[in-house]
Amino acid sequence: STSGGVDRYAITQREASVEILPGVRTPLWTYGGTFPGPTIESRRGRPVTVTHRNELPVPTVVHLHGGRTPAASDGYPTDLVLPEGRQDATPHMGHGMPGMHAGMHDPRAVVTSLTRDYTFPLDQRPTLLWYHDHRMDFTAPAIWRGLAGLQIVRDDAEEALGLPAGRRELPLMIADRAFAADGGLAYPALDPTLRERPGVTDPYLAGVLGDVILVNGAPWPVHEVDAVRYRLRILNASNARHYELEAVTDDGRRLDLVQIGADQGLLAAPVTHRVLPIAPAERYDVIIDFSGVPVGGRVRVLNRLGSGRTRDVLAFRVARTATDGSRVPRTLAADLPAWRRSDAVRVREFAFRTGRMRGGHGWLIGGLPFDPARSDVTVGLGDVEVWRLIADVHHPVHLHLVGFRVLSRNGRPPLPHDAGLKDTVSLRPGEAVEIITRFDGYRGRYLFHCHNAEHEDMGMMANFEVV
Ligand code: C2O
Ligand code: CU
Ligand code: CU
Repeated sequence: STSGGVDRYAITQREASVEILPGVRTPLWTYGGTFPGPTIESRRGRPVTVTHRNELPVPTVVHLHGGRTPAASDGYPTDLVLPEGRQDATPHMGHGMPGMHAGMHDPRAVVTSLTRDYTFPLDQRPTLLWYHDHRMDFTAPAIWRGLAGLQIVRDDAEEALGLPAGRRELPLMIADRAFAADGGLAYPALDPTLRERPGVTDPYLAGVLGDVILVNGAPWPVHEVDAVRYRLRILNASNARHYELEAVTDDGRRLDLVQIGADQGLLAAPVTHRVLPIAPAERYDVIIDFSGVPVGGRVRVLNRLGSGRTRDVLAFRVARTATDGSRVPRTLAADLPAWRRSDAVRVREFAFRTGRMRGGHGWLIGGLPFDPARSDVTVGLGDVEVWRLIADVHHPVHLHLVGFRVLSRNGRPPLPHDAGLKDTVSLRPGEAVEIITRFDGYRGRYLFHCHNAEHEDMGMMANFEVV
């Protein structure tokens, strides 16, 4: 509903049995009974208030990923929406190790707030955002169980470009899951071959993978399209799986994936990819042109990093010819921040590495696991900074509040898919990646973390305070 210039939504977080695999009911934790949750359509600069009601058996936290949000609504991991009468009110559960296992069960009782209003000013570039759970130590199993949904921010300028729209604009939330024989989700996957990766004995440590690829909650969907251009707004909502997407026709031709946008909105100009890498939490806004595909033909979107059934992601079937009124302008956006290294008042360095924590193995930033009571980084409102992010293994690093640009990878220029304004950057094994950003928007306490959701739960998160 709409009142006083604010769009209002109400979402009840509740358990629901959803048909994902044909003829099978899978118990999930949902936003409003569906997976993904409802897609929220919004306009730039028009505030949205979402009232979340928690009817799940555990506390939850809602974060709008990519939102430029005041700290009070940003979903700090200890800022809980408590379930009625079912859960201890202590924000931090105090488990020795991050409580993936406990997160799947049903702890003790006490009552507090059952609903919470999250307000999003959406004073930001139009783009695809997503909302998901962010509770300390329990984010990964909560997202796995279904707590994720999309929010799209639009504005007049973007709509005036003439990009494919309406039925020809497809938000695609890609997420892998594993299922047990009874149809329930398996976390981690039951198939031991999915757990065993070289040197990894903890089934959670590397991050949890599934062997079923879901797109908007459906396994390997086949989508009927006209033989025209489509706009694919791709989100990798997987806990830990990386993809390298390619679009292949029946006769083995690879279609161009023309990137027009990144996590934080349109690029300055399109970038053409044959293969598009996408790490957890990244978004890519891509134009694909089916006009050269014969009617009845198929285009399979494959993951080059997958094998067997995880190689397929989704497919398109070209159902008919049609006229195409869409355009892909050579100049997309003129408002991209062009921060230069010389603008930075500070350079900081953060190592994203494995290490010992709380008596076990975990994932650390600068040698430390997440601690909500610790102040890690203080930045001045309006300051431009360069952050040098160093990785041991793959870590998709995400900053709340701000968009950033990728300056360099291992001292070399960024890769083609680093273009534009991002909020998540994929650090590859052994890499040092420099990003640059301006900390503006709001004062308050925010997070940066690895978006491999299991890494995040196992400590790889830290605070920054904008003062
Ligand atoms: Cu997508 Cu801190 O989150
Ligand atoms: Cu975020
Ligand atoms: Cu990581």
